[in-house]
Amino acid sequence: MNNFYITTPIFYVNDLPHIGHAYTTLICDTFAKYFSLNGANVLFTTGTDEHGLKVEKAAKKSEKSPINFVNEVSENFKKLTLKLDVSNTDFIRTTEERHKKSATFFWEKLCSNNQIYMSTYEGWYSVKDESFYQEKELKKDGETYKTEDGSAVEWIKEESFFFKLSEWQDNLLEFYNKNPEFIKPKSRMNEVKSFVESGLKDLSVSRTSFKWGIKIPNSSNHIMYVWIDALTNYLTSIGYPNIKEKESEYWKNCIHIIGKDILKFHAVYWPAMLMAIKHPLPKTIFAHGWWTNEGKKISKSMGNTIDPNEMIDKYGLDQFRYFLLREVPLGNDGDFSLNALVARINSDLSNNLGNLIQRVIKFLNKNFNNEIPISLKEEVKENKHITKGYELKKSIDIKMNEFQVSKCLEDIFLYIDELNKFMDDSEPWSTFKTKPEKAGKDLTILVECFRIIGIILQPFIPKAAKEILDMLNIESSQRYFSNLSNEFSIDKNHIINNPEQLFPRYEK
Ligand code: MSP
Repeated sequence: MNNFYITTPIFYVNDLPHIGHAYTTLICDTFAKYFSLNGANVLFTTGTDEHGLKVEKAAKKSEKSPINFVNEVSENFKKLTLKLDVSNTDFIRTTEERHKKSATFFWEKLCSNNQIYMSTYEGWYSVKDESFYQEKELKKDGETYKTEDGSAVEWIKEESFFFKLSEWQDNLLEFYNKNPEFIKPKSRMNEVKSFVESGLKDLSVSRTSFKWGIKIPNSSNHIMYVWIDALTNYLTSIGYPNIKEKESEYWKNCIHIIGKDILKFHAVYWPAMLMAIKHPLPKTIFAHGWWTNEGKKISKSMGNTIDPNEMIDKYGLDQFRYFLLREVPLGNDGDFSLNALVARINSDLSNNLGNLIQRVIKFLNKNFNNEIPISLKEEVKENKHITKGYELKKSIDIKMNEFQVSKCLEDIFLYIDELNKFMDDSEPWSTFKTKPEKAGKDLTILVECFRIIGIILQPFIPKAAKEILDMLNIESSQRYFSNLSNEFSIDKNHIINNPEQLFPRYEK
């Protein structure tokens, strides 16, 4: 299990990047970094979903041709991945040739497996979700209907190709039962199962009333339904239709991280289509929750969207990232507020972590000329703080496997609390005068614990973790999880660098 493939949803280019885009991307990056540090090879893809009615309408509104419009807006998302400093190995745009080829091949495969037929679609459609709805999924709103989250639907009637989704109901249920880890968290698996059990209808998979999309082969006026086009991106990125042995190894360990609103597409339509073309399924689909802003639903019309660029400029990348990962368990909804963000920065990052490290490094800088005073080679084997640090990694492995990112951070910061207490109890600044040996030993223990923290924190707050490891002068080749043992511990005469402030405090 040494190759992992992590994906974000590809983002609609009808709008500017917001907190939802940043959140999904940062979660993926955390896993990508975590797997890499564990010695795995990781592919990590993100990108933009550029076709469909919603994007066509947005282009029209801004009086641009669809292609000019998507070229421009897609750049904002590329810039966001740079701003977030994530480790994606690909950025895919659905208007690229490689993707058109892959989606067209995928379509032809569905046809040659007798999975597509022509009929007429008559029913409800939400442009916002780019989704067809059955009446039972909607709520009545005066004379018309609305989706559960209140967006408008319109009645459409047009000639359409259909995918035989209904044929896959039993296979899907059997697959879910045999693979309980396929959809996570568990509550989402239950939700999907009951959706499928309630009956699947064949899915309309082409449109004729507008033009902005991938042309259906051998048809004059049909374009591919944007969700088929979009979902195929996950295969395009690993070279579909020419997936080599190595890439198929990645695919077996593919994790789709998505928001809860797009679960049906990923956990029902996508596996059914993959089954229909006899392609293996990804390993896991994990649905995260949604952020509200100061208790209110985020929406453009309310004017309360949160711009990740602005948050990063004001509060720092790691600070923003830490808040999103720590504040709520992955899978739950969360409330974003500046008060809560500042409280987390000040208490966890500035006071707890930053101050502790800075105090110790400053002291070593001032009194020991930046040189580690004693050898710990024997000590590390039994010192409770150090052994606990090595143990911490094992509990993180278990929790990451369960997607409990917030719990990992909670455990790490509880450990940092303990180190603060150890520092306060051992008072090296006073024992330094009376028992310099003891002060030297306690400080060295703390530095070894910082090495552990620095390594462990890399997937979660990479910039600060790097600064910690740089301050400790740890070689880049020794920053892997496999270096978390006494074999690599800090030793006498090791020279550390000068102290740097890690996290400034903010006023509420
Ligand atoms: N284009 C589709 C995905 C196709 S993937 C084959 C799409 N794009 S999106 O731009 O609308 O949404 C991208 C992601 O942002 C989704 O995972 C969605 O759940 C997430 N979020 C949008 N608003 C959000 C919050 N307020 N909070 C957290 N995430 C939210 O859907």
